[in-house]
Amino acid sequence: MEKPGEENQRKVIALAGKGGTGKTTLTAIMAKLLAQKGCHLLAVDADPPISLTYALGAEPKNTLGELRKRLIEDPREKREIGDRHIREVIRQEAVIHLGGVDLLILGQAEGPGCFCGVNELLKFGIESLAQQYDITLIDCEAGIEQINRRVISRLDTLLLVSDATLKGLRTAVYLRDIAEKHGVEKEYRVGLVLNRVPGGAADLQEQAQALGLDLLGLIPTDDRVAEFDRLGRPTVLLPEDSPSVLAVRDLLTRLDLPAGSRT
Ligand SMILES: Nc1ncnc2c1ncn2[C@@H]1O[C@H](COP(=O)(O)OP(=O)(O)OP(=O)(O)O)[C@@H](O)[C@H]1O
Ligand SMILES: [Mg+2]
Repeated sequence: MEKPGEENQRKVIALAGKGGTGKTTLTAIMAKLLAQKGCHLLAVDADPPISLTYALGAEPKNTLGELRKRLIEDPREKREIGDRHIREVIRQEAVIHLGGVDLLILGQAEGPGCFCGVNELLKFGIESLAQQYDITLIDCEAGIEQINRRVISRLDTLLLVSDATLKGLRTAVYLRDIAEKHGVEKEYRVGLVLNRVPGGAADLQEQAQALGLDLLGLIPTDDRVAEFDRLGRPTVLLPEDSPSVLAVRDLLTRLDLPAGSRT
């Protein structure tokens, strides 16, 4: 890895795809491995139910949803924020430092007003904060909305996560096309990650190729992942030799990112 802060090291990577395909799991493992390599890393929990936060072993606090609520409901808060730019407010009050990984949490938009307000804070937060990190990893909510509505519009890499189903692949294609037509503003790379793959799933790999999807990662079914989730244990505590962790290391290598060291 070159010196942190160099322009070419600043990468924004979003993981998107059909519900339940493994976006949060893979984001958490990627974050763990990149942090091990000393990357200055921002993880973004962009899914209102706050799953990445728990997968990283953190507790939800200082969410953008809470910040928005304070700003809307409490005129004194507004005065206290005063002349500070909202970018500074987000950096100082919404970023959680976890030791190795900084975390920005979307959270719920409670209180009056529609949901777009908090998504706008998210967009603004990502765009301004990403400049300060080597790598920004975004765990998107399921489906197309955040891409379609340009909440996440400046990316370097869009990772489309699919399970081992044709439905998952079709959602990936749909997302790719939406991003191309409406969402993303500059040149970016699109890749497919097949997760929870039993065996090699050669048929799915062929289908992915036929659909024009560039397969960058193949993550096997890993009983430990499911077990950790069942027990409520953070994904980042998965043992280094877990099949999913080993496969994510390969994925990072394919993305030309530091792959993490085995301990
Ligand atoms: N490689 C894997 N092997 C076994 N189980 C997995 C694997 N990856 C994910 N899972 C399980 O699949 C479920 C969904 O995973 P995860 O929450 O990461 O998906 P998601 O795409 O973030 O879901 P959502 O769309 O709800 O945010 C979880 O119960 C998780 O334990
Ligand atoms: Mg998730």
